[in-house]
Amino acid sequence: MSAFALLVNSATPVRVIQVGAGGMGRVWLQLLADSSTVHLVGLADLDVEAARSALVEMGLSDVAVAASLSEIAVSTGAEAVINVTVPAAHHPVNIEALFAGLPVLCEKPIAPTLSRALSLAAASEASGQLLMTSQSRRYYPVLAELKQQLGSLGTIGMVTTEYSMAPRFGGFREEMDSPLLLDMSIHAFDVARYLLDADPVSVYCESFNPGWSWYQGDSAATAIFEFENGIRYTYVGSWCSPGFETSWNGSWRVSGSAGTALWDGESRPRVDGVGAGSTESADAGVGETIAGSLAEFIAALRTGQVPSGEVHSNILSLAMVEGAVRSAETRHRVVIDALLAEAYAEAVRVEQHPDVAARLHGWGSAAAGLAREHQVLS
Ligand SMILES: NC(=O)c1ccc[n+]([C@@H]2O[C@H](COP(=O)([O-])OP(=O)(O)OC[C@H]3O[C@@H](n4cnc5c(N)ncnc54)[C@H](O)[C@@H]3O)[C@@H](O)[C@H]2O)c1
Repeated sequence: MSAFALLVNSATPVRVIQVGAGGMGRVWLQLLADSSTVHLVGLADLDVEAARSALVEMGLSDVAVAASLSEIAVSTGAEAVINVTVPAAHHPVNIEALFAGLPVLCEKPIAPTLSRALSLAAASEASGQLLMTSQSRRYYPVLAELKQQLGSLGTIGMVTTEYSMAPRFGGFREEMDSPLLLDMSIHAFDVARYLLDADPVSVYCESFNPGWSWYQGDSAATAIFEFENGIRYTYVGSWCSPGFETSWNGSWRVSGSAGTALWDGESRPRVDGVGAGSTESADAGVGETIAGSLAEFIAALRTGQVPSGEVHSNILSLAMVEGAVRSAETRHRVVIDALLAEAYAEAVRVEQHPDVAARLHGWGSAAAGLAREHQVLS
């Protein structure tokens, strides 16, 4: 039995409010406008004028506009929330939605810190509502094909991602302390977990900012993760490397005892292993990137099937980010379990919401809390 509330009406399009109408918000608005499974009933943004002009630009009408979710949650009859605000606003907006009785699909990262993410996992339990991270770079048929082919590589020993781009975003990313690690690397780290069906044990990372960088914070990093079973995952990334840029997903190499797979992040993978090449291109049929996460979110609300980005299971992807940042700051190897224990103590110490505090306290430890995913939400 599902422990998150399912949709009462499973036949009609789901009435959703989107919060956040910035750059990515506009991409989501287009998806929601084109979708037959959801019906956009509201758009909230601190900048109400920005919300209005986004709707006008996209030719959308009959959508309630407000500065906050609470102002329109009841009047619109909303059934779910899509949170596309800046990372710093993810925790308060998710809490607002969950305790208004609304499930949330939230852009990555689910929270700016591991401690706040643990608070959100406890809030999801306390409210009985699904909270899912849109970890959109999991949703590609060619990535699913790569995963299917890994069996032909024997025992997997090493995985590497080279990610090298030169985007000029402006806005919050150019002012963050460590934009590459904090805003981008989670996609690759999460895909590594997806491919390996394994979790990280420790990380050593160095980050830096090349002299020509247009970011204030570190825009390049190299991180070496140890995973369960001794697998090493190495990430070499840069957001200020013009020329021969990789795809947004980076270039991947998976190396095992019986062969190697290569993926450029866009095309079908190339596999040199035992029995390789026999798999057809896998098509999960749910659509790519955010269309895929939206489809999985709606399916979860209709069926109770726990989605892959459910908050408890997504937290270890965020732990990889926080561990990498911590290692770069301290120049020491960071053990993920120790990082989680520290984040849990902080979460318990600062939690203000009584129901969330009770849940967190009841876990006893971060490890026990995250393991609850399987008991509580399946
Ligand atoms: N999945 C991807 O590939 C991908 C790509 C880009 C961005 N993102 C993520 O999407 C999110 C938004 O990024 P963006 O580039 O659109 O940022 P942005 O700065 O362009 O827009 C964010 C919007 O949120 C609004 N906002 C901030 N706090 C709010 C609050 N408390 N209540 C209501 N509105 C609030 C701001 O006014 C702004 O309009 C981030 O988490 C980012 O990491 C994901």
